[in-house]
Amino acid sequence: MPIPDSTIEEIERRIDIVEVVSRYVVLQRRGNRYLGLCPFHSEKTPSFSVSPDRNAFYCFGCQKGGSVFSFLMEVDGLSFPEAVEQLAQQAGVALPERGVASEHDAVAKRRAALKELYRRVAGSFCHILENSSKAAAAREYLQRRAIEPALRERFGIGYSPDSPNWLYHFLRGKGYSCAFLAETGLFTSRNPERSLFQGRIIFPIRNPRGDVVGFGGRSIDGRDPKYLNSPESPMFTKRELLFGLDVAKESVRRERRVFVVEGYTDVLACHAAGVNNVVAPLGTAVTEHHTRLLRRLCDTVTLVFDSDTAGQEAARRAAMLLETAELKTAVCELPEGSDPAEIFEEGGSKELENRLSCSKDVFTFLVSRSLRRVDSGTPDGKEFAMKEVFPYIEAVRSEVKRDAYLRQFADTLGVELQSLVQDYQRRGAPRVHRASQDAPGEPAEVIITTDLFLMVAVVANRDQFTFVRRMLDIDDLRDKNAVTLFLALEESYRREERALELLIERIDSPDLRRVVVEKLSSDEFALNQERAVYDAVLNIKERSYRQQQREIESRLRRLGAGTVAGDDTQYQIDELLEQKMYLDKELNKLKVLIDDRFTE
Ligand code: CTP
Ligand code: MN
Repeated sequence: MPIPDSTIEEIERRIDIVEVVSRYVVLQRRGNRYLGLCPFHSEKTPSFSVSPDRNAFYCFGCQKGGSVFSFLMEVDGLSFPEAVEQLAQQAGVALPERGVASEHDAVAKRRAALKELYRRVAGSFCHILENSSKAAAAREYLQRRAIEPALRERFGIGYSPDSPNWLYHFLRGKGYSCAFLAETGLFTSRNPERSLFQGRIIFPIRNPRGDVVGFGGRSIDGRDPKYLNSPESPMFTKRELLFGLDVAKESVRRERRVFVVEGYTDVLACHAAGVNNVVAPLGTAVTEHHTRLLRRLCDTVTLVFDSDTAGQEAARRAAMLLETAELKTAVCELPEGSDPAEIFEEGGSKELENRLSCSKDVFTFLVSRSLRRVDSGTPDGKEFAMKEVFPYIEAVRSEVKRDAYLRQFADTLGVELQSLVQDYQRRGAPRVHRASQDAPGEPAEVIITTDLFLMVAVVANRDQFTFVRRMLDIDDLRDKNAVTLFLALEESYRREERALELLIERIDSPDLRRVVVEKLSSDEFALNQERAVYDAVLNIKERSYRQQQREIESRLRRLGAGTVAGDDTQYQIDELLEQKMYLDKELNKLKVLIDDRFTE
């Protein structure tokens, strides 16, 4: 039932918009208005204004404006009824009893019941962790990882007993019906009495308001998979949630900065080291939903990641999204193969704190990374660097900033600004910034290259990925869609996920996702593609070796032609020759394999 206008007006009369907004924004009085820094976009000079007499806010910078209700909806991600409910309570205004249950009411009721259940279950898991003898091993495990009771309490960490039916009987005993429980995502779909989480450390996942909406469970005895999460549901959408945000919110707002780490335990380790403005996506890449959430709270996002190729590539992608959202991005690269939790466990608070305080600006990171991967002296190397860096520059909205980046890039590459700009413009008309990744745009055509064919075949036959990742480096792939799939496979592989849906979820381009799903359901990949995968891997590897050889040859030519003089020329030549010999050898080995295919 809609809330009557008179009630809305009554709430507006009783609520002081300045008081509500002040909980989020520091306001200063200017005549009959109040001014502050806009919470919806980043700015240095205040253009956000609140007028108590009109009961409204307006930002001259981003043109957002509205009532106290729309302010709360925007800043806390509430629905209109939720905002009304919250303010009604505060104003002491009674909302009319809901009459005939509409569909919306039924949904809202179910949600409320679920939230209540989750809160209760989370509480029981906590209690068990701290008090039950069944959880002794779990407590020991956490202690070993230096996750102390105070910290466990802050995050509501718990333990689910190692029993298939304990939770079911416990909740039945509290009066919940079988039918309701079967729909809660707490039990397996095959057996609705069997608990999804057994013998696992439980990390409750809470929305920004602090309601528990799902759980992540970590095994402590090496049981597979390492992490299990609640199934996706309208209340639990991984692409929209950030672990730890409810706890971090205040400190993120205060510091105007947030650290984004990879996992639950990394968030905890940062807290243990005194860094509280930290969140983690739930095993997915950073999405636009995440950037939108964060933009309301801060100006700078520091990405903390493993410096292996997959980690770096994930950071590059996240950086582009953040740039589109006009958030400043910094990167903090950790040694290959490590994460904040490990650094904390091995080196303690100080060590982790030091690591986190060393971050660099994302553009510098991107440019130096693209140069590190190839020899920027060669034309091919320059071209590669441009391919890596241009998409980021394209995501920049400000002309001035884009210009500055192009200058910096031209300097680093040692090319004329004018020619770099020409190349940049020749990439095609600058893409329009899409308001949302999910917005239905024109579906882009996805061309099935050898590389993409290979990766789709591997998606269809996952056991072949071990072979592919042993043989191929991500840099061997040329097609960006194939790279996306490689990364998704790599992430799934590392997390030991076997479910196809989880893999598909990791593909952030809707067009590519569609193509993959189509291909998988066609006959093309029904048969085992072992042979085709093998062939494609060899071909791609050969192509990549040849490409590297061409690069070496062109560098040798330049050195030989004396274009680069200097004492170490001979040394460089020797080094290149050695690399060339290595490549020749590898190519020969590969050729033997390729020839064998025809004689078998
Ligand atoms: N993850 C997940 N499902 C999995 C594996 C991982 O949702 N099957 C998510 C979790 O949020 C996890 C994050 O991905 O925290 C990173 O995974 P991983 O690096 O494998 O684990 P760690 O966070 O390092 O966990 P731990 O320190 O406990 O080993
Ligand atoms: Mn870890």
